[in-house]
Amino acid sequence: MEAPPAHNLVLVGFMGTGKSSLARILAQKTGCPLLDTDAEIEKQCSQPPSEIFREKGEAHFRDLETALLKSLAGKSGLIISTGGGMVIREENRRLLRELGLVVWLHAEEEVVYNRVSRNNRRPLLQTANPRATMRQLFALREPWYREVAHLQIDTGKMSHGKAVSAVLLAAGWECKPA
Ligand code: S3P
Repeated sequence: MEAPPAHNLVLVGFMGTGKSSLARILAQKTGCPLLDTDAEIEKQCSQPPSEIFREKGEAHFRDLETALLKSLAGKSGLIISTGGGMVIREENRRLLRELGLVVWLHAEEEVVYNRVSRNNRRPLLQTANPRATMRQLFALREPWYREVAHLQIDTGKMSHGKAVSAVLLAAGWECKPA
């Protein structure tokens, strides 16, 4: 029996794995609205995540992420791009799977480091040794991404075009007519 179409498409993955760019293309191809959890939190708080981390701490940011996921329950037809740490909490992993097809975007650690070290927007990597911090976070989070995902895509190896087709096929969604 074929799987029923997913309610929403949810992208998870470490920072720098291409969630925002792929989400933008998916939104364009399907005509569905894009919801980026970092951008949504920034809109709600009038502060970017890096400032929320600095002024109110990581735990506060994580509470905002959980509250946002809860507020999305029952919604459908959205392309949801999530912050890299969204999978840390077990409750979030459950909420993510309830929202729809969860796609884990991953890439080799080296590829990701080259992407994220180009700017200093990532508060968790503002440490004395960002390379080592990233290696630790990468290893710590991998089992959570693996656990939550219905589908995995290696963005270091697969083109955006192929990734989009794979996601839409797995979700049972179609492109909007050209
Ligand atoms: C975070 C990743 C960021 C943002 C915040 C925390 C993380 O999102 O949510 O800085 O814990 O990995 P991106 O994955 O879009 O960089």
